[in-house]
Amino acid sequence: MKSARMALAVPAVVLAAALSFPGCGSRGGGSRGGLAAHDSSFVSVTYPHDRSSMELSVARGRIVYGRYCAVCHGENGEGDGFNAYNVKSTYGVTPTAFVDSVAFASVPADTVLAAIRDGGPAVGKSRAMPPWGRTLTPGDVIDAGEYVRSLAHPTRKN
Ligand code: HEC
Repeated sequence: MKSARMALAVPAVVLAAALSFPGCGSRGGGSRGGLAAHDSSFVSVTYPHDRSSMELSVARGRIVYGRYCAVCHGENGEGDGFNAYNVKSTYGVTPTAFVDSVAFASVPADTVLAAIRDGGPAVGKSRAMPPWGRTLTPGDVIDAGEYVRSLAHPTRKN
């Protein structure tokens, strides 16, 4: 129990640091285990399989998600953000419900990343899903991907 609490405390501290220096390149660090993956070439992304760095990525992704994605995909990833109505009436599609672990859990991680980075059409989906690769950092894209994947895989261990 005690160690579980410690494990939560550490990401919180790093997260706070990341938040106080938005855009500063220090988040990858280069030498801190899985986080170094964020510094590697964006085209050949390596997912951090270390459990703690995965949790950290998900925690950061939740913040990115709340800021840029929840508006369409919904606060809880149910595809019911307040802009979902407009998306539906303009493009005829509903933002993906990430909590639908049957449908979304079967989407490969690379496809999730490509959808976020390059937009819906890059993965055969609607252009209602914007490309984020030019506005978010590569690390933010990965983190957002890890977060939405965690919604579909609530018991995922890595
Ligand atoms: C303007 C509304 C909108 C915003 C903002 C938005 N999305 Fe989407 N997104 C969509 C729609 C609509 C789809 C479904 C397209 C389809 O089914 O053809 C989608 C699809 C996706 C998919 C593909 C799912 C699959 O089944 O392959 C992912 C992943 C995704 N969004 C992640 C994100 C993330 C992460 C963000 C924030 C960085 C985000 N979206 C922001 C509208 C949006």
